[in-house]
Amino acid sequence: MNACVRAAVRTGLNNGLQISGIWRGYEGMIDGDFMDMNSRSVSNIIQRGGTILKSARSKVFKTPEGRQKAFDQLQKRGIDALVAIGGDGTFTGATVFQEEFNVPIVGVPGTIDNDLYGTDFTLGFDTAVSNVVDAIDKIRDTAASHDRVFFIEVMGRDTGFIGLAAGIAGGAEAILLPETPTDIQRLADELAKGAKKGKTSSIVIVAEGDDGGGAFEVAKGIRGLLPDYDTRVSVLGHTQRGGTPTWNDRVLGTRLGTGAVNALLAGHSGTMVGLIGNQLTSIPLKAAIDQKKELNLRMAEHLECLIL
Ligand code: F6P
Repeated sequence: MNACVRAAVRTGLNNGLQISGIWRGYEGMIDGDFMDMNSRSVSNIIQRGGTILKSARSKVFKTPEGRQKAFDQLQKRGIDALVAIGGDGTFTGATVFQEEFNVPIVGVPGTIDNDLYGTDFTLGFDTAVSNVVDAIDKIRDTAASHDRVFFIEVMGRDTGFIGLAAGIAGGAEAILLPETPTDIQRLADELAKGAKKGKTSSIVIVAEGDDGGGAFEVAKGIRGLLPDYDTRVSVLGHTQRGGTPTWNDRVLGTRLGTGAVNALLAGHSGTMVGLIGNQLTSIPLKAAIDQKKELNLRMAEHLECLIL
């Protein structure tokens, strides 16, 4: 996200615009928490995780009174267009706000979940997947040395983009996703089959939204069916969301940040910039929220990796 903020600020300044940073998203907009941004305000941030502008899930912005306050603050400050970085919640708020007050807004897809339609990748996804793969590689050392089955729970809310990509890249034996029905008996059978073929350890990725009830539940089910197996659970949690962004995320953030400001300058409003097939694209914010991006399960075909 910092790469995106940096690019948006510098593209704006280089086009003769005045740029304000809004702290804590919609929450800061309501409180009038703004800061003039110059080129130096965004120095030395491209390599940092998180966001220098901070982020908040705003309940007040969901109310008409909250949005009115936010609009008044924008007017007071002379802000006449917005770049909104975020996911579903951010774009839902942006759509309503734009309809109510006619403020031009261009969205940038920013979520580790990669679940927004209209872009191949969202900001943070690549970094999150890299973090998970790094964790799998490390956990595999213990799994292999101790002949264990590890159940690793990853984020993604109700989608399996992180689980699928990280599972493939980490060479997982099975990946449990929200998009497919989980069958514990089948998982147990496959693990047992693997053991018969000489496999002494296994990695099972469990996406947090999977219908198996999470990694602990799945592990319990397997222990019931395969009591002799030595199993362990690791929930990666927020380690996935932090740390040095990958070069891919930095380039994506830069392109989307620049693209968003250029889109506003070209008169766009209520749209989201995205990257499809390495080309900058633009779709209505509503489409980004309403349409469903499909997970490509065929990526895992013929890998001897069970998808459930
Ligand atoms: O939407 C991004 C995400 O990281 C999800 O993958 C996860 O379920 C959620 O946010 C965690 O949110 P919080 O940090 O508020 O617990």
